[in-house]
Amino acid sequence: MDHASNQRTVARPRERATLGRHDAKATRFSWLHSCKNMLKKINSTAAFATRTSLTSTKRRPRTIGRQVGRWYANERYWVDSYPFVFPSYTWSNARIEIDFLLSQYHSVGKSCLDLCCGIGRHSAALARSGFDVTAADSSRFLIAQARKKTVGLGITFQRIDLEKSFPYRNFDLVINLGCSFGQFDTDRQNKQFLVNMASAVSKGGYLVINCLTREVVQRGFRRRGRYKMKGGYVTYRRTKAKDMSTVTGVWSFLRRGFMSRYHTAYRLYDLPWFVDILKENDFRDIYFYGGYEDQEYGERSKELIILAKRTM
Ligand SMILES: C[S@@+](CC[C@H](N)C(=O)[O-])C[C@H]1O[C@@H](n2cnc3c(N)ncnc32)[C@H](O)[C@@H]1O
Repeated sequence: MDHASNQRTVARPRERATLGRHDAKATRFSWLHSCKNMLKKINSTAAFATRTSLTSTKRRPRTIGRQVGRWYANERYWVDSYPFVFPSYTWSNARIEIDFLLSQYHSVGKSCLDLCCGIGRHSAALARSGFDVTAADSSRFLIAQARKKTVGLGITFQRIDLEKSFPYRNFDLVINLGCSFGQFDTDRQNKQFLVNMASAVSKGGYLVINCLTREVVQRGFRRRGRYKMKGGYVTYRRTKAKDMSTVTGVWSFLRRGFMSRYHTAYRLYDLPWFVDILKENDFRDIYFYGGYEDQEYGERSKELIILAKRTM
């Protein structure tokens, strides 16, 4: 309650009795006015909540369905997770990652296709290294961010659902980084995506994939965590399936007093699965690493990086 209304309630009875018709109207008007203001406030809060799909933390957080099918196609997930998935230091990480990959890249070709490019951090590093980059992603929000952040680098961005179509051919370098592989719901779809990526590489060109694998998850991984992110917190719970086919997660993003929650799932594959498919698709020189500092892929690796050269 503000000071003005406090003063009104302590008015002495004699003064109240002398209120004229005009004053009474004014009081009714100011009461109506404050009701209208309150309604406006409630409406704008509701609009904000609907627009961003966020729900007040006082209520039960909204879950985006129990089934996780095509969770990655939910634009709101990328909007809400943005400060957590893409904090500013990921740009300098991308530079280090691309520098390492280029040190292993023995080809003169300079055309590159960045699949599931997100905010375009790897595309930007490659463009700065002289590559002619095409970058594809399904998220309207992330592509818009990428365009904003890479102005002047000449990158061609395309918004496309790579699960549904794949119109690419003959790139000297095809990359799928940032643990984007295994997102699709079925093994058939993930295998098809790998075959599509392989067929987009020109003869003598390279394919690079960075992902979580069955071996990495089997050895152990953090089941739950809580992190600070810009403007709030994120908490997660992750579970691996008994047969190690999938790792599922429940992610809660708490930002500016609002909470949203999403279910995610990644299909897991082991190194021989990748190697067999790549060999079937004319890749003979296949190298793998456990990190971007030339670590071997082994016991302690937290991720897999595959670098394969198409020889035919
Ligand atoms: C973990 S992010 C990685 C982004 C980027 N590679 C990086 O490392 O910064 C996964 C990306 O995959 C994209 N994605 C998910 N499903 C997709 C689909 N069906 N088609 C195209 N992109 C997709 C998302 O929009 C998101 O940008």
